[in-house]
Amino acid sequence: MQIPSNLTLLRELGLELRTGSRDFLPFSNQRMEIEVPAMIGRDVFLDTETMGGGSYICTNTYARNIKSIGRFSSISENNSFGCPDHALNLITSHACIINPGKTWYTPFIDFHDATDWINNNVALFHKENENKGKIEIGNDVWIGTHVRIMNGVKIGDGAVIGSQAVVTKDVPPYTIWGGVPAKMIRKRFDDDVIERLLQIRWWDYGPEILKNTSSENIRKQLDELEERIRNGFPKKQYDKLIFDESTHQIWLQRSDKEGQELLYQLNG
Ligand SMILES: CC(C)(COP(=O)(O)OP(=O)(O)OC[C@H]1O[C@@H](n2cnc3c(N)ncnc32)[C@H](O)[C@@H]1OP(=O)(O)O)[C@@H](O)C(=O)NCCC(=O)NCCS
Repeated sequence: MQIPSNLTLLRELGLELRTGSRDFLPFSNQRMEIEVPAMIGRDVFLDTETMGGGSYICTNTYARNIKSIGRFSSISENNSFGCPDHALNLITSHACIINPGKTWYTPFIDFHDATDWINNNVALFHKENENKGKIEIGNDVWIGTHVRIMNGVKIGDGAVIGSQAVVTKDVPPYTIWGGVPAKMIRKRFDDDVIERLLQIRWWDYGPEILKNTSSENIRKQLDELEERIRNGFPKKQYDKLIFDESTHQIWLQRSDKEGQELLYQLNG
């Protein structure tokens, strides 16, 4: 689904969409749900099942094969997540032997008359590759520039990925990682603080719960947040935009209403 940048209703509902020459579209997903407000930068290619409110992705980022992006995550520019793998267990890593043709590389070879062989190659390829799975990016994650995240990696809540990292392993919550391959640089806070942050989950309440708390002393700040929650601070509900690839429709699910409203019917 190609999403034109002139869909003013989306902007009014809180999706800042800066489309460019590349497309913003669910690549393989039939359905993508984005809570608003959110921002998707210029030349971003997005393929996630869900993205939480307050999250943003900056210019020239290729974010593919993602299951979820949490709330209030900051994804910087020139990143590349979830690039597809080629076959390592077959005689060639070239894609021509796992695709019958009719794609950009048809000029190299066309295997339309060998579909059984192609299907068998695809099955052998998937046997090795399918259990890597989709990427999961937590809440309040910050990803710097020029980062690569490999398929199946889970980035925990509050984690930070330094510029130029190649992330090949799961990243625990509230840790800072960098390098090629990425290794843990340090934890952001002491373990007791991390534990409390993960219990509190401030993003469930929205940044409103953070307002005027003691930023200079994290333990005091956590005390204050816990007290606000004990006193019934309301959880934040966000409206959701639903992009349906199969019908080329964009729907709105309001947080305070049952049912969905059709916003756009796009051309195929
Ligand atoms: C990782 C980062 C957040 C700094 O974290 P930090 O804990 O303050 O790190 P420090 O600067 O104290 O450095 C600690 C160690 O990590 C290393 N390090 C810092 N950034 C690194 C990176 N991106 N990759 C690999 N190693 C890195 C330092 O060399 C240092 O190593 P040493 O202990 O062997 O001397 C920061 O360097 C970074 O990469 N920020 C991203 C910036 C960006 O892309 N912004 C985009 C705009 S949103």
